[in-house]
Amino acid sequence: MSSLRQYFRRVRRAAGMLLPERSDPIREFFGRPYEARVSEIKHLYRHEVKKGQLGEWFNWDAERLDNEVARNFRLYFHLLLGYSRILRPRSVLQLGSFTMTDSQWLIADKFPGRIVASDYSAEHVEYLRKGFAGGLFDRVEFRVVDIEEPKDSDLHDVTMVVALAVFSNIQPEGMERFFAALARSPVECVLIGDMYVKPTLTLETEGARSVPMPNSRNWNHPYLSLGRRHGFDSFFLPDFTYSSFVEARGVFVIHRQVPREAHLRAIAEGFGSYLARQDGFLRRYVAEAYPELDCGARNA
Ligand SMILES: C[S@@+](CC[C@H](N)C(=O)[O-])C[C@H]1O[C@@H](n2cnc3c(N)ncnc32)[C@H](O)[C@@H]1O
Repeated sequence: MSSLRQYFRRVRRAAGMLLPERSDPIREFFGRPYEARVSEIKHLYRHEVKKGQLGEWFNWDAERLDNEVARNFRLYFHLLLGYSRILRPRSVLQLGSFTMTDSQWLIADKFPGRIVASDYSAEHVEYLRKGFAGGLFDRVEFRVVDIEEPKDSDLHDVTMVVALAVFSNIQPEGMERFFAALARSPVECVLIGDMYVKPTLTLETEGARSVPMPNSRNWNHPYLSLGRRHGFDSFFLPDFTYSSFVEARGVFVIHRQVPREAHLRAIAEGFGSYLARQDGFLRRYVAEAYPELDCGARNA
């Protein structure tokens, strides 16, 4: 390195030491008290924001729904189908129903049990209820569930809980309360699709802790450990779809008294559905990423 460049680098470093430290909103977020963190997340997910992203979605017909399902390459949803087909839960509660995707998949798959879609905001839940009345999702039930403040009545009639990209928005204090509520409930199985870092895959029930993301207001929670500490069994399934170079994602299965054989059948069913649809969704997926390549997707 030339001595001139070295000189300028030193000057810049010295000038930087004189300036006040630049604020980092992400680091600051994780240093705030619990209530402030919760209200910041709820503000980010307020109804007006969610509503603005929903498009003409209430007008979908069955063909459009099937098309949306067919183009989705995320393994999590196929595992959801596998588990719902094999365990046949009486009722499935979807947490954090921004676009209600898990519930959509269950409807498209003609799941025979009750489907309950929930979110923390009564305004959003009411908006979904009214928007879907009389349409394709008419039989979906709606419920206000605030994961940070769980009530036993939220889960009293639920056999399976599903949560895709939801718990990473919940604070560790809230996760403890929610898992304690799960332990008191009739819930037999929880399917979680979310992010992790290596230490949060721990199976130890002592000393596990949630790890903040460096670049977002999300948490990596030690789901396997949380489940075990609250009387459940738990295991992890890799799902690299939607992972990036800064976020690793996977599927966490938290359950009690579900025989190993039933898990194996559910996972096989999920992978079977994944393989059966793969030609269709991969063509579209590849074409979306590289529109300049004609991979045969135009006719897919
Ligand atoms: C990234 S979105 C998940 C998308 C969702 N799985 C779907 O089907 O559209 C995160 C969701 O978590 C919800 N959420 C955030 N804080 C929550 C809380 N305290 N209780 C319940 N849901 C919450 C948000 O409103 C939003 O719907």
